[in-house]
Amino acid sequence: MSPSPRPLPGGIHYGGDYNPEQWPEETWAEDAKLMQEAGVTMVTVGVFSWARIQPDYAQWEFDWLDRLMDLFAAHGIGVDLATGTASPPVWLVRLDKDVLPVTADGVRLEFGSRQHYCPSSDAYYKAAGKLVRKLAKRYAKHPALALWHINNEYGDHVTECFCPASAQHFRRWLKQRYSTVDALNHAWGTAFWSQHYASFGYVEPPRTAPGPVNPTQLLDWRRFCSYALLRLHRMEREILRQHSPGIPATTNFMSMMKELDYWEWAKHEDVVSDDAYPDPADPASHVGAALNYDLMRSLKGGKPWLLLEQAPSGVSWRPVNVPKPPGLQRLWSLQALARGADGIMYFQWRQSRAGAEKFHSALLPHRGTASRGWQETVRFGAELGRLAEVAGSRTAAQTAIVLDWDSWWALEGTDHPSERMRWRDLLRPWYDALYARGVTVDFVPPDADLSPYRLVLAPNLYLLRTEHAQRMAAYVHEGGHLVCGPFSGVVDEHDHLHAGGAPGPLRQVLGVVVDEFWPIPDGETVRVGEEAQASLWSEWLVPEGAETLLSYAAGVLGVLDGLPAVTRNSWGRGSARYLSCHLGGFGLGSVLDGALTEAEVLPVLDGAPPSGVEAVRRGPYLFLLNHTDREAAIPAPPGTDLLTGEQVGEHLRLGPLGAAVIRTTPTETES
Ligand code: GLA
Repeated sequence: MSPSPRPLPGGIHYGGDYNPEQWPEETWAEDAKLMQEAGVTMVTVGVFSWARIQPDYAQWEFDWLDRLMDLFAAHGIGVDLATGTASPPVWLVRLDKDVLPVTADGVRLEFGSRQHYCPSSDAYYKAAGKLVRKLAKRYAKHPALALWHINNEYGDHVTECFCPASAQHFRRWLKQRYSTVDALNHAWGTAFWSQHYASFGYVEPPRTAPGPVNPTQLLDWRRFCSYALLRLHRMEREILRQHSPGIPATTNFMSMMKELDYWEWAKHEDVVSDDAYPDPADPASHVGAALNYDLMRSLKGGKPWLLLEQAPSGVSWRPVNVPKPPGLQRLWSLQALARGADGIMYFQWRQSRAGAEKFHSALLPHRGTASRGWQETVRFGAELGRLAEVAGSRTAAQTAIVLDWDSWWALEGTDHPSERMRWRDLLRPWYDALYARGVTVDFVPPDADLSPYRLVLAPNLYLLRTEHAQRMAAYVHEGGHLVCGPFSGVVDEHDHLHAGGAPGPLRQVLGVVVDEFWPIPDGETVRVGEEAQASLWSEWLVPEGAETLLSYAAGVLGVLDGLPAVTRNSWGRGSARYLSCHLGGFGLGSVLDGALTEAEVLPVLDGAPPSGVEAVRRGPYLFLLNHTDREAAIPAPPGTDLLTGEQVGEHLRLGPLGAAVIRTTPTETES
């Protein structure tokens, strides 16, 4: 048995992607020196080096990489060595055109960008495996090797392929899943629209069709596509385990991404890592970033993770790429740290002079060491050095949000009462409400042990397996508190409606049943209670034991007026609230306040932080982050601010985009 991977060296990692193939070797030496000056501890190398390592079918060139690895070892800089499989060289796709992926409309995508491989291509699988094996054997014992970086951002450009090889792979996967074609026919409900299959051999991927495609076929396709990419990742992981035992491995996730079920993926990571690109032009993007970081922390049950990529300033792939004002990259990096990251890394080290990303910012911008970007790079590197003791500590949460990719995929299927019910849109107001109250949340999968949490929120669980509902009911029965959002408990794992109507297997614990869905037309809102407004969705709700907390005051076409909108049910020793509509900020906030109080969830500070200020506790460290352009006064506990080394008192003042990382005394950390 191979030993379990050793942890990364301690401290907070600092660095970025380094693309040496873009530069002459004299520049490498200068870069290594500048990296030392900036306090860089780790660089990601080789993400796009396949064509440089293997320029042609039978040609291998490792000497340059040997020299580069030696250079970093000599400078005490660790390497997150990429397997380079994200961008196959042109010879491979010319040898076998089936490597190139095909769209749902049958268009084969051309070479000339990146990630041009079909997840089910045999030729790609073999060529990638060969490359990884050679890299692993060659560098397994190299002193600079700190971490393996598998592929890069799986699913960034290509998440699915509709070619014949993918179709065959899909059929194999279905056969494994269902064993018999009868089981598939049942699961897919093929009695409808004459879709019966006499054999697996007739099944194809859900290519562009005349009308709506079978919803369970679509759902299974989503499951299969996540699996097909994961299979590639596992192939690489296995090779690394065999030939480079003991070295941890990661692949960089893309925040809360629909196409990949990261609960499944995270099982194969030694350390979770994320690429995050919040938009500086969006005044609320730090809240979305917090949400993503909470997910990254949660994917391995609270273990520290790495922010492996972010932009030092502007990116190059939005229609308009607004740079980060001075101080913003520091503040947003501290935010990732607050939410459990043990590494702050960037794309990329040296700004490219050619290629699609030549206008993307870098730690060392085109203007060189005179630039304001470089000054910030050096300053922040020094600050991170002062935060080393934070590494390894945990960000704790008493509240959890249930996230289920199966349900997400099914929710966003076709032909629903409303197309507007999108997971991210439904989730966000719930997260925003907690964020504003300074309540930290974890994300959990639907089969999680919920007992560590005082409060569990399910903003939407359209697809809900009976066994998962039973776990939630048992959690409430034992004294837990649950708040469930609309259009939940609607279908089972095959996207078949639960008998008797929504919320299906949660009907008893919630003490309600839905008579009919009443989606709200675009641009309209309905009034709930005295002041709250709902948009997108409402339901004709019938209480079966639950008390009514809020009623519809003026519903769609006036039909729901006076009927219950929000309910609360006592169940065992706990409580279960149900929201039958998509409530806006104020209304949702008041329902959540009730649940937070009943569950005795403690916010990070006494009371909500001032507007625009983020408060997060990580172990004994209290992070206070001022996301506004005004000074903020914050009632904080006394302690030492690690950033300045100074004692801070009860009334901390933070300037615009200012931050403090306060080491509090143990008694003050009790929560
Ligand atoms: C992604 C990729 C990088 C680079 C950046 C640019 O995160 O992994 O290679 O393209 O985007 O923002």
